[in-house]
Amino acid sequence: MVNGMLTGKQILLIISGGIAAYKALDLIRRLKERGAGVRCVLTAGGAQFVTPLSVAALSENAVFQDLFSLKDESEMGHIRLSREADMLVVAPASADLMAKMAAGLADDLASTILLATDKPVLFAPAMNTRMWEHPATQRNLATLLDDGLRAIGPGQGDLACGEVGAGRMSEPMEIVAAIEDMLIAAAPAAPLKGRRAIVTSGPTYEAIDPVRFLANRSSGKQGHAIAAALARLGADVVLVAGPNNQPDPTGVTVQGIESATQMLAACETALPADIAVCAAAVADWRVAGETEQKLKKDGSGRPPVLALVENPDILATLGHLNAGRPRLVVGFAAETEKVVAHAQDKRVRKGCDWIVANDVGAGTGVMGGDENTVHLITAQGVEDWPTMSKDAVADALAGRIADHFAAG
Ligand code: C5P
Repeated sequence: MVNGMLTGKQILLIISGGIAAYKALDLIRRLKERGAGVRCVLTAGGAQFVTPLSVAALSENAVFQDLFSLKDESEMGHIRLSREADMLVVAPASADLMAKMAAGLADDLASTILLATDKPVLFAPAMNTRMWEHPATQRNLATLLDDGLRAIGPGQGDLACGEVGAGRMSEPMEIVAAIEDMLIAAAPAAPLKGRRAIVTSGPTYEAIDPVRFLANRSSGKQGHAIAAALARLGADVVLVAGPNNQPDPTGVTVQGIESATQMLAACETALPADIAVCAAAVADWRVAGETEQKLKKDGSGRPPVLALVENPDILATLGHLNAGRPRLVVGFAAETEKVVAHAQDKRVRKGCDWIVANDVGAGTGVMGGDENTVHLITAQGVEDWPTMSKDAVADALAGRIADHFAAG
């Protein structure tokens, strides 16, 4: 059975000393069958109860045991071990390891990882009843909970030492449920989940002949960053991108095109959508009658005359759709003078809801650069945003889009 919730999640499981360590083997199996990746750290005490070989075989990963192991440190340092996990699980958590965690000791690999981590930690105590009930252990428990760690168990019952009482480690399936709970709580908010977005980005290339084209200096940085930011908020994003050197944003469907005509066709194919953000620098004109053969100098000294025809306006087409118009259509206005006035005019003319206007005049460094100074123009007015990185502009815009949909 594969449960989607743990698919692709990385769990770092720390197995400390105690007879309950055998249950950690079953926990590994349960996590693996739910699609999680499991890396294990075995303390010296833990290794007295389960062998590194069984832990490695079940987790299908190397087992980490030593803080000062040249081999482990060169393959993966203790900081990386904790940072690459989505969460840490200590099962069983012995009284000794709980005491170390509460005191902030770092004298072996497990305690060092627990002190170094920035990830959620779940621990499953397992020990003799008297050890559990001892004021020192209870003090440590309170400290750990106060520090934001989460405990599961221990349960009541027959203990391996022959006594009856609290101290039994929770069952693997109970621990799995607690892990799923914590991962849901830690999941980033997805306010745009279920919304579809089309983003255009980059320049377009308009062919003159098979080897030459008309283009512009757009890098695609801003459009790609917006696609990534919308995807981070849970939107289902199609990025229609002209030729560019940007990496494909994570979690985004990228549709590569060259010309404005192809960009429009790709956008129309991507409909229906709730959101359209047209950040591409689309060529206004294409060459009339692109030749099939390369243009040659004819010896007359006269250059060829290129006749241009207007390209379709993708933003205006989407903004003026009668049926199936995206609920929120956002355009860009790169201007070199009267930035806000031109953009306000463009908002109305192209039928879009918002315009992100920026000054791309000589000396601003916006085209191809990493920063942008924009104004957000809506029907309600103009907001001047401070100069920010293009990534920060993208996050701010995506946040505004999420607020817009949240407001209904
Ligand atoms: O008219 P101008 O090119 O300044 O408008 C810029 C805005 O219009 C941008 O959002 C750009 O992506 C969009 N646009 C378009 N198709 C065109 C020209 C511009 O989508 N052919």
